[in-house]
Amino acid sequence: MVTSATHFDAATVKAGAPPVTGRSGQGTGIPDYRRTRPGMPLAGLLEEIQRVADLPLERSEAFPAAAYTSPEFLDWEVDNVLGAGWIGLAHISQIPAPGDFLNVDALGEPLIIVRGKDGEIRVLSRVCPHRAMDIMPPGFGYDGHGPADARSGSPGCGHTRLFLCPYHHWSFELDGALKGCPEMHKADGFRRDEVGLKSFRCEVWHGFVFVNLSGSAAPVAECYAELGDDIAGWETAKMSLVIAKEWDCPFNWKVLVENFMEAYHHLGTHCKTLQPLMPARDTWTTGERAHSMRVNLPFKAGTGDGRDLDFPTIPTLPADQLYQMAVYLGQPSFLLFTGPDRMFWYRIEPVTPDRSRLLTTCLVNDSALADPRYPEKLAAAERMLVDFHLEDMEVCTAVQRGLHATGYQRGRLSHLEMPVWLFQRYLAARARGTYPTLDRPPAPAQK
Ligand code: FES
Ligand SMILES: [Fe+2]
Repeated sequence: MVTSATHFDAATVKAGAPPVTGRSGQGTGIPDYRRTRPGMPLAGLLEEIQRVADLPLERSEAFPAAAYTSPEFLDWEVDNVLGAGWIGLAHISQIPAPGDFLNVDALGEPLIIVRGKDGEIRVLSRVCPHRAMDIMPPGFGYDGHGPADARSGSPGCGHTRLFLCPYHHWSFELDGALKGCPEMHKADGFRRDEVGLKSFRCEVWHGFVFVNLSGSAAPVAECYAELGDDIAGWETAKMSLVIAKEWDCPFNWKVLVENFMEAYHHLGTHCKTLQPLMPARDTWTTGERAHSMRVNLPFKAGTGDGRDLDFPTIPTLPADQLYQMAVYLGQPSFLLFTGPDRMFWYRIEPVTPDRSRLLTTCLVNDSALADPRYPEKLAAAERMLVDFHLEDMEVCTAVQRGLHATGYQRGRLSHLEMPVWLFQRYLAARARGTYPTLDRPPAPAQK
């Protein structure tokens, strides 16, 4: 179903632009010098982010740079924020039939999301229980190797009847159980039924597949109850993921989350694209929640409807969603962007403090697929997704450069950056071992 997948990197941020030569090798593909900060000890940094997050919105300010550059802080986030919560990995339309699978890496875990012969979706480790090989490393192991077929145009997607480790040809059922293991009959006490691919805790919610690596998170439906109400009108379990683009991002994962959630930057970054349609000044944030966030982006009067290349409006939407777009964060990293005719889902995954992997996708419903002008409208949707995201790639890349510089100053925030402040409050609550609103009064909505 996915139409295309393209890899981008920092060198293509200004697609088509001539390389800029000069200081820092900017635009030349030469990586920047990056200061290795002496850094703040983790305990001091956790104290400081709690102090900042407790400031009222009117006095709010940016986090210390170390929150975006420190390897120790990222390790803390992996244990206490990302690994402790739900990570959105896939949409069910990517693996519709038994035997369909999708390879994804999450927090250093090579994973397979697979629909079993029983129709159940499982999240398995790709690490072979023999001698640790990733059984399907990117670009190898399923495409022309072994029994699985790659699905063209869909990175990491395939179909198989079993999994085969290319190293010594141990094979596994779709539920991870060991099926075959040549020449192991002399291994004393070896029991085939005790061996298999490790499985992780997984839930399907509104058509999205989530994993919780710690195994201790409350159920997704409980965490995202308000978010579920927000997006019910899109009937996302019935939607199809039709665009998927992967981006190699030279910035911290939180730089992307903050950029995605605040609409203040429509004024600058998107002054020609999103600002005329959804002016920053009219955007507003819903009241604080423990596990999610919602920001409303009303259309400027007279601009929201009748665009020639829109898909048909989704008929089940509540009236207030017909005249706005909205962005949502299922804490800590599940990002949605809704419009009256489509939904965008972003998956951000930290690689190092300075580097993240991003998947940007678009989902549509059956009436869009049935539209006689679907191919043309899909191409326009893809262009739009790339164009406004290139604008964001450019600023996020430049922000990470600033975070490493001695010239970095902790700036004050606008009231239109309430989502940044709420995200700070989420991280600070995690540092206290809790969630926002559970030990502090919830911040009220801006409207
Ligand atoms: S490492 Fe997989 S079969 Fe040996
Ligand atoms: Fe943006």
